[in-house]
Amino acid sequence: MTRTTVRIAMNGVTGRMGYRQHLLRSVLALREQGGLELDDGTAIWPEPVLVGRREHALRAIAERHGLEHWTTDLDGVLADPATDVYFDAQLTSAREAAVRKAIAAGKHVYCEKPAAGDLGGALELARLARDAGVKHGVVQDKIFLPGLRKLKRLVDGGFFGEILSVRGEFGYWVFEGDWQPAQRPSWNYRAQDGGGIVMDMFPHWEYVLHELFGPVRSVQAEVVTHVPRRWDERGKPYEATADDAAYGIFRLDGGAVAQINSSWAVRVHRDELVEFQVDGTEGSAVAGLRGCRAQHRSATPKPVWNPDLPATESFREQWQEVPDNEEFDNGFKAQWELFLRHVVLDEPWSWDLLAGARGVQLAELGLRSAAEGRRLDVPELSL
Ligand SMILES: NC(=O)c1ccc[n+]([C@@H]2O[C@H](COP(=O)([O-])OP(=O)(O)OC[C@H]3O[C@@H](n4cnc5c(N)ncnc54)[C@H](O)[C@@H]3O)[C@@H](O)[C@H]2O)c1
Repeated sequence: MTRTTVRIAMNGVTGRMGYRQHLLRSVLALREQGGLELDDGTAIWPEPVLVGRREHALRAIAERHGLEHWTTDLDGVLADPATDVYFDAQLTSAREAAVRKAIAAGKHVYCEKPAAGDLGGALELARLARDAGVKHGVVQDKIFLPGLRKLKRLVDGGFFGEILSVRGEFGYWVFEGDWQPAQRPSWNYRAQDGGGIVMDMFPHWEYVLHELFGPVRSVQAEVVTHVPRRWDERGKPYEATADDAAYGIFRLDGGAVAQINSSWAVRVHRDELVEFQVDGTEGSAVAGLRGCRAQHRSATPKPVWNPDLPATESFREQWQEVPDNEEFDNGFKAQWELFLRHVVLDEPWSWDLLAGARGVQLAELGLRSAAEGRRLDVPELSL
């Protein structure tokens, strides 16, 4: 089979996201299936070059997966004409400088969210990429999740009528790190290292709301640090300076209200780690990572408020499972495939650095709204 090789410098592959989702579940999974097959019978073949700071960690990953190329020399791999794409899944605070270098070197760029630590930086990256004429993208994995794909199907099929509101509940208990190790990196809880749940999650909520229901027009948020002291990877206590919970209200274009709670200090009494309930005049749905249940207007029961009697109805059983109707691949891999097609075939692509900047904008405005105690408009961004 004829193959078009796309050589990708992958930085941050020793991290949680870089290794598991991007290297293992996306790029290596594509190689295991023989590359990304195209309609003309040829295939796109992703060739990763592992990039990082720690030689032994890169070598170990390369050996584990039979990969030939790895380097600690970012400038060198960017200067190499054989490199087509620079991918960045480093911790957030290291991203902007590296992506900037990659654009200056004329490479296509793809990166994790948030695209940069502040809006000015994110917009500048989008401008630089446009001026350099390179292809660019930011990870927006949640819209590729089976649960949200089914929810989108309901929206596109007109199931809801007029959409009135969206309620999102995201989060789980992240251990403090003293008597049980924390399940997330400690930099997430230090503002000075680019941590914080608003910068982490609001970029996701921006594209989820935008893609499913329309652009966010205003934001009002309450942002807190519930757990002020945590223990790092080496067991040392540190002050958690970053926000670990955010309670946001977003007014959407057209008037619907979205309310999303994000927290690393909440215990899960839900079916999934994130759930969105959408209520419309014609029907409602609850979507998680994988599942989606719906209740049509015609099948809506009529509860009557009477606290003197125990509940006789099982409310959860009054919903209908939305069928899969298709096979869902890993969301990160699905987006990688579209990005690679965009790079090689010039196919349309909308999840670019400007879209990434919208996520950073919403996070910044959310933080400002909380600091100033007021609702803020979200202006339309342009380059
Ligand atoms: N799309 C998603 O659902 C999702 C989920 C979690 C995290 N993320 C994003 O992915 C990025 C990485 O997050 P993660 O959870 O994988 O983090 P992580 O701490 O597990 O990995 C960070 C990576 O950056 C590298 N790095 C480079 N410079 C560093 C420095 N000075 N200090 C520490 N590490 C450094 C590390 O070696 C490692 O490879 C973040 O920007 C985060 O916002 C996205």
